[in-house]
Amino acid sequence: MPAERAAHWEQVYAARSDTALTWHQDAPRPSLDIIAAHVGPGAAVIDVGGGTSRLVDALRAQGLGPVTVLDLSAAALATSQNRLGAHARDVTWITADITAWAPPGQYALWHDRAVLHFLTEERDRAAYLQRMDAALARDGTAVLSTFADDGPERCSNLPVVRYTPETLAGMLDRHLPGRFTLTEGRRHTHVTPKGNTQNFQTAVFRRRSA
Ligand SMILES: C[S@@+](CC[C@H](N)C(=O)[O-])C[C@H]1O[C@@H](n2cnc3c(N)ncnc32)[C@H](O)[C@@H]1O
Repeated sequence: MPAERAAHWEQVYAARSDTALTWHQDAPRPSLDIIAAHVGPGAAVIDVGGGTSRLVDALRAQGLGPVTVLDLSAAALATSQNRLGAHARDVTWITADITAWAPPGQYALWHDRAVLHFLTEERDRAAYLQRMDAALARDGTAVLSTFADDGPERCSNLPVVRYTPETLAGMLDRHLPGRFTLTEGRRHTHVTPKGNTQNFQTAVFRRRSA
């Protein structure tokens, strides 16, 4: 499965300019505001499935990080590296499937916009959450953004699982009982480059001390 998944996403990024992809944002909101409210300079942040997102640019511009961007697609990461030019050297880039990745250290904040919702199999969600738990420092923050319960049922020709902050919290609690506390949940509407709207939810969790 990881090889098929990687092939799918490499093909997606090869097929068109990243600014035409439905999930593209010129300004990474509300993620940036939520992250800035939870971590200060020097706190390690990982953007999981960051693709070609401008979040890494915005975090750097605000003096936040160190930033790590992980994605299945090497082509997507190369696009971001080229965009950042010499500044790309300040970022850690990891090409990996999040469900099979071994975290090399711990982060203060884990950010995911529109990645977890592609995991439609229970075993993949379990693998993802084990890694999130291992990668987050004590009292670390997870910012998980997915399609809302009334958002699209598919993205990039793939089925997705839609959530509310509460159903996402329930899913986390089934896999990692008592480990994460939901501290904030909000709904927001994303406008795609073609002007269509997609409802998202973003849930913020605090990892409880072991
Ligand atoms: C809809 S895009 C969102 C990209 C970015 N988060 C953003 O908001 O612009 C989903 C991204 O997740 C990546 N992805 C999908 N499944 C993944 C997995 N299992 N592990 C790591 N990255 C994955 C894709 O390559 C793609 O870049």
